[in-house]
Amino acid sequence: MRLLLLLLLMTGCAEAVHPDGYDSPTAHGLELTLQTQDCRTCHGEELDGGTSEVDCDSCHPADWRTDCIFCHGGDDSDDGAPPRQLDGSSDVTASTFPVHAAHTEGELHGPYACTECHVEPEDVLSAGHAFDDTPGRAEVDFRGGISADAIWYEEGCSINYCHGSGIELADQPLSDEPVECGDCHPVAGDPNPVLATLSGEHREHLFHDVDCQECHPTTGDGTDIVQADGHVDGVPTVQMIPEVTQDNGRCTGRCHNENHNNAGW
Ligand code: HEC
Ligand code: HEC
Ligand code: HEC
Ligand code: HEC
Ligand code: HEC
Ligand code: HEC
Repeated sequence: MRLLLLLLLMTGCAEAVHPDGYDSPTAHGLELTLQTQDCRTCHGEELDGGTSEVDCDSCHPADWRTDCIFCHGGDDSDDGAPPRQLDGSSDVTASTFPVHAAHTEGELHGPYACTECHVEPEDVLSAGHAFDDTPGRAEVDFRGGISADAIWYEEGCSINYCHGSGIELADQPLSDEPVECGDCHPVAGDPNPVLATLSGEHREHLFHDVDCQECHPTTGDGTDIVQADGHVDGVPTVQMIPEVTQDNGRCTGRCHNENHNNAGW
């Protein structure tokens, strides 16, 4: 009898686990994104109640677990790109990667998917995603992208294909300055083709005033990008003027009055 009373007393007086106002998304949502505590301990491995008996799905829209915007924003777009910071702030300059938008929206190149730089999870419970050993910190993993060997070192990226010349890899410190052709191509837009750091017969052709756009639909005049989708996508986009065709690295046809049959690059 005394034991029952004690039990009743204990449950009656038991303090609520969470502070007042915890049902507000800014309170409990932030604790999830920053992983202040592991919700699964009481709300269950699947976040469907556990010992707390409070199922997260009881208040949220049905698809919240797979709705990337639910946690990553949609501040600027519907697909969650650029993502909102984990601390809820939309002050992009304070982010550890303030140039998300330049990459996910893309002007010089097609828009990059998250997978260029992160493993893309399927839902909130995916391994290595929200519940992992690095609370409040996003993991960078380039292995699924075109800069597969790049390394993120918090002040930039090294061994980086995307910021290189297409041949050499680059070290790219974090900067909010827009990049220009010459940052990656010492020759593009430069009147002196001797500076060419490009492959094979580039130098020869540039000396003879053959322009970039005669072989690359990417650019209109060597200083602009007119086909962003094929640019910085991991492979050179080559489409020669109709007089010359290329197969297996060998050319056929005449150009500028010169026979190119069986010429290699
Ligand atoms: C130590 C156990 C425990 C942990 C850890 C825990 N909860 Fe709870 N939570 C509960 C219990 C129990 C309730 C039921 C209400 C109560 O008793 O306070 C609850 C209720 C809630 C509610 C309903 C609102 C309210 O205040 O009752 C929300 C929202 C919630 N939890 C979110 C979370 C989130 C998000 C996390 C992880 C960041 C989390 N909880 C971690 C035990 C826990
Ligand atoms: C008492 C109702 C309630 C419960 C229970 C609840 N939530 Fe929420 N949560 C909300 C509401 C309301 C929103 C805002 C929804 C919206 O914006 O559509 C929200 C939003 C969130 C967000 C997004 C916050 C943001 O950045 O905008 C996260 C993360 C979140 N909840 C985690 C959890 C987790 C994890 C649980 C279970 C442990 C849980 N919630 C249980 C009411 C609840
Ligand atoms: C070009 C590479 C790149 C792309 C593309 C990219 N990210 Fe990131 N992201 C990063 C880097 C680098 C960081 C900083 C990681 C760190 O702080 O250690 C980061 C950080 C983050 C953060 C934490 C931000 C903060 O400040 O709290 C989130 C969340 C995130 N990324 C999600 C995404 C999502 C979702 C996408 C796709 C819509 C995406 N990222 C696309 C490189 C990228
Ligand atoms: C309930 C909240 C929530 C939802 C929903 C959510 N995420 Fe996340 N996401 C997080 C948190 C928290 C992190 C930071 C992870 C950490 O601490 O390492 C994160 C990090 C990321 C990262 C950076 C890499 C990493 O795992 O750290 C990417 C990319 C990402 N999320 C993409 C997505 C995509 C795509 C979806 C939709 C399928 C999605 N997220 C849905 C909370 C969420
Ligand atoms: C005569 C045709 C031709 C002209 C003119 C030309 N390119 Fe190329 N370019 C090629 C070919 C062919 C490749 C593919 C080489 C390969 O597959 O290895 C290529 C590849 C590239 C690459 C990838 C890296 C490399 O060097 O192989 C870049 C970057 C590039 N070109 C930029 C330019 C720029 C900038 C201009 C103008 C300044 C230009 N190209 C002019 C034919 C040309
Ligand atoms: C951030 C680095 C970077 C910047 C800035 C850049 N490029 Fe490139 N560019 C590359 C890389 C890497 C390649 C290698 C091929 C690929 O992946 O598409 C390339 C390839 C090219 C090619 C070969 C055709 C192709 O699409 O593959 C041309 C032409 C070219 N760039 C012109 C330009 C011009 C003109 C500008 C300025 C408006 C410019 N690039 C700015 C990195 C850059």
